[in-house]
Amino acid sequence: MKVANTAFLDACKRKETEFTPVWFMRQAGRYLPSYRRIKGGSSVIDIAKKPELASEVAVDAVKALGVDVGIIFADIMLPLEGIGIEFRIEENVGPIVSNPIRSLDDVNALDTLEPESDVPYVYDGVTATIQKMDGLVPLIGFSGAPFTLAGYMIEGAPSRDFARTKAMMYSQPEIWEALMRKLTKMVTDYLNAQVRYGVRAVQLFDSWVGCLSPGDYRQFVLPYTREVFFSIGGVPRIHFCANSSSLIEDFHKTGADVLSVDWRVAIDDVWRRCSGETAVQGNLDPAAAMAGGGEMEKRVSDILDRARGHGGHIFSLGHGVLQNTDPENLRSIVKMVHERTRSRK
Ligand code: CP3
Repeated sequence: MKVANTAFLDACKRKETEFTPVWFMRQAGRYLPSYRRIKGGSSVIDIAKKPELASEVAVDAVKALGVDVGIIFADIMLPLEGIGIEFRIEENVGPIVSNPIRSLDDVNALDTLEPESDVPYVYDGVTATIQKMDGLVPLIGFSGAPFTLAGYMIEGAPSRDFARTKAMMYSQPEIWEALMRKLTKMVTDYLNAQVRYGVRAVQLFDSWVGCLSPGDYRQFVLPYTREVFFSIGGVPRIHFCANSSSLIEDFHKTGADVLSVDWRVAIDDVWRRCSGETAVQGNLDPAAAMAGGGEMEKRVSDILDRARGHGGHIFSLGHGVLQNTDPENLRSIVKMVHERTRSRK
């Protein structure tokens, strides 16, 4: 389906845009009254498995905020169910896996994901969301990246240091390699099917890979991430990671079209460190969006000033919207970014 607003897709390709496009990671979430109403007592996974509801919350967020792109409502853990990982998402904690990976046998026992039959609701959700969006803005698909998924599968729960994961990498590299190979294939097939169903860009969330040194990243992660990006064609590919300032150059080597970075790096440095050969998404601190007011505006301005003259900026937060954020603050960010960048042309 053709979309009316192509600013986001053009910015991904570093083309001139009339204004800087904006969206927010976790734009459909608990901070939005419409989401809380639909969610009621059910879990995020319950919603994601009902295409009618998943499409509604994704489209509600776009309309409530006036952002330039929507994102499918799902969770990075969803495809893992299709390969035999049992999990639940605990509110205010995150994913808890009841059968974590501890041995090569555990890896070998994982199934191969058959996207459309194992997680049909994801694709029905894409179809329903595109229909409801009715050409207003494009839709982003997404997946967790092999490292971040492996991290949850090995730790069994959210972790600050991913020590168990790293210990496996260092002491049992054959298990790590086998797991990463399986996840690389799973992620690639999962995303390519989303593209077939009509998403116009994909974002790979390697949320926690910033816990690695550059050397470990290059040895244990980069080859797999590169393979994912090289196997996805036809749509812009965005790569997100928190805490990525020591990894920017290696991140660029993944072949992603857009690097999505957090506030710990000055956004203009990202273009410099990649010789201008990337689009950049980011990077307001979500805490500034929560704070609102003059301080938030000052920081939005600073990002726009730094991005000025560099090709391909997508304004976003450095990580997901925080739960206590007033949606009005996000609406005013969208308005401010649009107005300021329009008047520059
Ligand atoms: O609009 C959107 O962006 C929503 C779609 C979305 C969700 N999860 C729904 C969700 C997306 C893009 C994700 C990605 C995701 N899930 C990531 C990568 C992004 C990141 O934040 O780094 C990760 C690491 C997960 C795993 C996960 N799921 C966590 C850590 C949590 C938070 C637990 C909590 O309660 O704070 C979840 C739950 C989750 N997934 C929520 C949403 C809207 C919040 C809980 C809820 O609404 O029930």
